[in-house]
Amino acid sequence: TNRTFTMIKPDAVENGHTGAILEKINAAGFRIVAMKKTQMTKRDAETFYAIHSERPFFGELVEFMTRGPIISAILEKDNAVEDFRTLIGATNPAEAAEGTIRKMFATSIGENAVHGSDSDENAAIEGAFHFSGREMF
Ligand code: GTP
Ligand code: MG
Repeated sequence: TNRTFTMIKPDAVENGHTGAILEKINAAGFRIVAMKKTQMTKRDAETFYAIHSERPFFGELVEFMTRGPIISAILEKDNAVEDFRTLIGATNPAEAAEGTIRKMFATSIGENAVHGSDSDENAAIEGAFHFSGREMF
């Protein structure tokens, strides 16, 4: 068993997709270790996405991720990181497989409904960025 970190991004929260996305996550066999609704500050988003700071879309990404609340969560399952990325689909919803969360709920490559960690190491770093040990069960 291992863990991944996810966020339901501001677009999906605004559009009322939180419940449907959590239902898909549950149906795919992930256990919720931690979960909360928060709004990231500019500084939070710049830190969380620091790896993308030189990319041309960085300003847009920070603006988007801070414009409204998100649901962040730590999820547990065997092969969590890889299986969760399969469940959410490609970054660009136009390229995402049928039935994936991004295919169903994302609007564009930028506003793509959900985040999923890309490695076990980043899952641990990202989970610890959003949650204290007392919020994990
Ligand atoms: P995450 O799970 O959110 O990390 O997505 P990803 O791993 O599929 O994509 P990546 O890490 O490469 O990019 C991080 C986020 O930046 C994406 O999820 C998008 O929200 C945003 N992003 C990526 N490419 C573009 C782009 O070309 N334009 C814009 N506006 N945003 C982008
Ligand atoms: Mg990524």
